[in-house]
Amino acid sequence: MAREKIRWDQSFALGVAEIDDQHRQLVNLVNRLIDINQGPRHKQATVGALEDMIDYLDAHFSAEEQLMIDRDYPGLEDHRREHQIYVHQTEAFVTAFKDGEKNLSDDILEFLQKWLVEHILDADRRLGDFIKGRGAHKV
Ligand SMILES: [Fe+2]
Repeated sequence: MAREKIRWDQSFALGVAEIDDQHRQLVNLVNRLIDINQGPRHKQATVGALEDMIDYLDAHFSAEEQLMIDRDYPGLEDHRREHQIYVHQTEAFVTAFKDGEKNLSDDILEFLQKWLVEHILDADRRLGDFIKGRGAHKV
């Protein structure tokens, strides 16, 4: 059965323009992976999509973490740990997939998709609320 892609929802929007734009891009990257995986499996395309995602995650997480540092956000360490777990997990999927240990299973897509949505709705929302609470809508 075809996996449903993530549909951008207004509830994802934190009201911090830079971060919201990056989150939209991340949603697109996960959706692209879902698309590729549903077609005839082109290994190279899947590896490429995963690597693009890791590159983008690095840039996005760095931007978020810098924002937290700049604003003295008290939840920085926990939030950063969540980011690290996701990056390590995604890197492990790329390695395993390259080595031919497994196909990109639905479990992996489920993990990538679910983590992103839950992280945006929970940890990132708390960060967004904190930033807005300080009267700084624009970053
Ligand atoms: Fe985050």
